Amino acid sequence: MKNALLVLIALSITSFGFGQGNTHKQEGGKFEGLAMTPPMGWNSWNTFATNIDEKLVKETADIMVSSGLAAAGYNYIVLDDGWMTHERDANGDLVPDPQKFPSGMKALIEYVHSKGLKFGLYNCAGTKTCAGYPGTRGYEYQDARFYARLGIDFLKYDWCNTEGITAKEAYKTMSNALKTAGRPIVFSLCEWGDNQPWEWGKPIGNLWRISGDIYPCFDCEFKHPENWSSWGFMKIIDMRKNIRKYSGPDHWNDFDMMEVGNEMNDTEDKSHFAMWCMVASPLFTGNDYRKMSKETLAILTNKELLAINQDKLGIQGFKYKVIDGVEVWVKPLSDGAWAVSFLNRTDSLKKINFDWKKNNFKDSDFGFETDFSKTTFKLKDLWKNKEAGSTKKIFISEIASHDVITLKLTP
Ligand code: GLA
Repeated sequence: MKNALLVLIALSITSFGFGQGNTHKQEGGKFEGLAMTPPMGWNSWNTFATNIDEKLVKETADIMVSSGLAAAGYNYIVLDDGWMTHERDANGDLVPDPQKFPSGMKALIEYVHSKGLKFGLYNCAGTKTCAGYPGTRGYEYQDARFYARLGIDFLKYDWCNTEGITAKEAYKTMSNALKTAGRPIVFSLCEWGDNQPWEWGKPIGNLWRISGDIYPCFDCEFKHPENWSSWGFMKIIDMRKNIRKYSGPDHWNDFDMMEVGNEMNDTEDKSHFAMWCMVASPLFTGNDYRKMSKETLAILTNKELLAINQDKLGIQGFKYKVIDGVEVWVKPLSDGAWAVSFLNRTDSLKKINFDWKKNNFKDSDFGFETDFSKTTFKLKDLWKNKEAGSTKKIFISEIASHDVITLKLTP
């Protein structure tokens, strides 16, 4: 009896000891503080899919710097799916495709770093990536060490070919693997919002996709033959309800890489960009910088819009009201300011006649509200870069189909 008791005590001490060890390793948590404002950069997927190579990366990095995009805040170059060969090497390591990257991935990353930029790669929690390259399942710690050795700064981690595994656990495992490998790497979860990552993603990653893939249109659904859909940017904006309270500094709802400069016209691109700023989405450009028009560049580098996206409160804006097909979006900003966007969702020109005093904003998730009868705000039109009166007067304007007006309200 006495012996049995001793054995029991010894066992529980041992298992307590193991438990501690494991807990320490498994609860590593993400690298904190790597994305205190929505991360900004370029991702290869929207324009190039798997047709990527070192020339493209170098030219993109060069233009990111020479065009002013880097100075505006875009600093991550992320290679999406298609950077590897179809087999791991004899050690089980991933192999950057030597035909696409003849100078080697490490040299390419050093080139990007030498420009003052950061570098990201893509993989998938499943057995294969969405485009059929080796996935990370079963190789989490090995791949994390591989990325740390290469010197990457950002990992997008996708969700194809994941039958039988649990999203939260799979993302947690990779997050812990990155932490253990020791190099600070922004961890970008991409499981399309299927498993409510906003509810569990905060200790695990710095951003998480909330939708399936974007499509370069205003409001369409593009049905792929294999039975899945890509979405116009307004469809993504509409897709999730009541998740804004989960987004904030270092843990962002990610509305997907942008399609600005791809197939929409400049008016729609403007609206797309304004909405990504209003909802504090990560801002990854997805266009070909080598063919970028000056209008596209001007949209992407609009300083005042970017300041709304990058505001340090990090609050995701919300739809306040719809008036005759014109959506009114508002976003609390630091120092008591607000951003307001009017977006004409209809196919015809609309008149705006907005009486501030009859429209006080109330953000019940974050506890901000306006009282326009007591506090007057001055208005600035951020697309015209022009003062626009104050909230004492009714705001009167016209707005073209699919266009946006964005105002900053300063008390
Ligand atoms: C998924 C992701 C996309 C892209 C592709 C790559 O569809 O959602 O953003 O990474 O895979 O295959």
